[in-house]
Amino acid sequence: MIRGFGSDNFSGVLPEVFKALEEVSYGHQPSYEEDIYTEKAIRDFKSVFGENCEVFFVYNGTGANVLSLSAYTQSYHAIICTETAHIYTDECGAIEKQTGCKLLPVPTFDGKLSIGLIENHMNGFGDQHHSQPKMISLTQCTELGTVYTPEELKEICDYAHAHGLFVHMDGARLANAVVSLGCDPKAITVGAGIDVLSFGGSKNGMMFGEAVLFFNPDLIKEIKYVRKQQMQLHSKSRFIAAQFSALLKDDLWLRAAAHANRMAQMLSGEALKIPGVSLTQEVQGNEVFAIIPREKIDILQKKCFFYTWDENASEVRWVCSFDTTESDIIEFVNILREEIC
Ligand SMILES: Cc1ncc(COP(=O)(O)O)c(C=O)c1O
Repeated sequence: MIRGFGSDNFSGVLPEVFKALEEVSYGHQPSYEEDIYTEKAIRDFKSVFGENCEVFFVYNGTGANVLSLSAYTQSYHAIICTETAHIYTDECGAIEKQTGCKLLPVPTFDGKLSIGLIENHMNGFGDQHHSQPKMISLTQCTELGTVYTPEELKEICDYAHAHGLFVHMDGARLANAVVSLGCDPKAITVGAGIDVLSFGGSKNGMMFGEAVLFFNPDLIKEIKYVRKQQMQLHSKSRFIAAQFSALLKDDLWLRAAAHANRMAQMLSGEALKIPGVSLTQEVQGNEVFAIIPREKIDILQKKCFFYTWDENASEVRWVCSFDTTESDIIEFVNILREEIC
């Protein structure tokens, strides 16, 4: 059956990850991250991102974002993000509930923050009636499938730090950004000045689990207690750790993402050949945002699922995964052509 384009978490699990889960399942290991597999996964992360990072494993992306943003904030703080940020639109107020912070959303055209946009919310400092801006949260790749360059990130981080703010990166799709830019993962994270990173696993071939990487561990709260209170400490920790070790081994995370990105390029290229289809964003990662005839959306979704992004604009989102195949795309584009032409 044709795979749909609903989301990259509609996909299954990478065979290497599945194998790792099975391999660590034999015998007993101490729980709560005292096991040898957690120690190894932390070393694996340090070999990619450098020694000066603290790694915390969590269950899901919302948990990763909540933990990241809790580390630097008090409830009287505010967090600047985009209007399309997952933390603002799709986490059911988890950030507000868990951190107590106010979210300050910024409208954007392409899902990316810039200093000019951030400045709109840089006020009220020292005013006891006003939530105090303390963090900037950005997403890489963005929720609109676009990618920040290392220079853009460094500019935002330098600005934030000069004004006493910290920067969080929601990297649910970090791997797609790394391969899109062809850069060292450090260049768009710790090297650019990011303070804390939610590192995605589930969208890139894991069964479950995400990681939070703190790049200036001296400045954070006693985070192990915070994670436990947030119910994100997995007792059989080896099952998250082993998946990450498998993903990081021999750059599997980047190979999986490179495939997903290639599929998105193929899909957008083929879809654009159909009259009546246009793109709203540059395809830089594994997501395609397209305008298609409104009256065809329902019919097409029944044949091959994807989400409507903006009903008024007749805009849809197609997401490719590590397991999307060329024949999935050919079949879907044929369906598109048949319905639209
Ligand atoms: C940008 C982004 N951040 C975080 C998440 C993680 O969310 P979840 O809590 O569902 O794992 C998602 C998933 O859709 C996402 O797209």
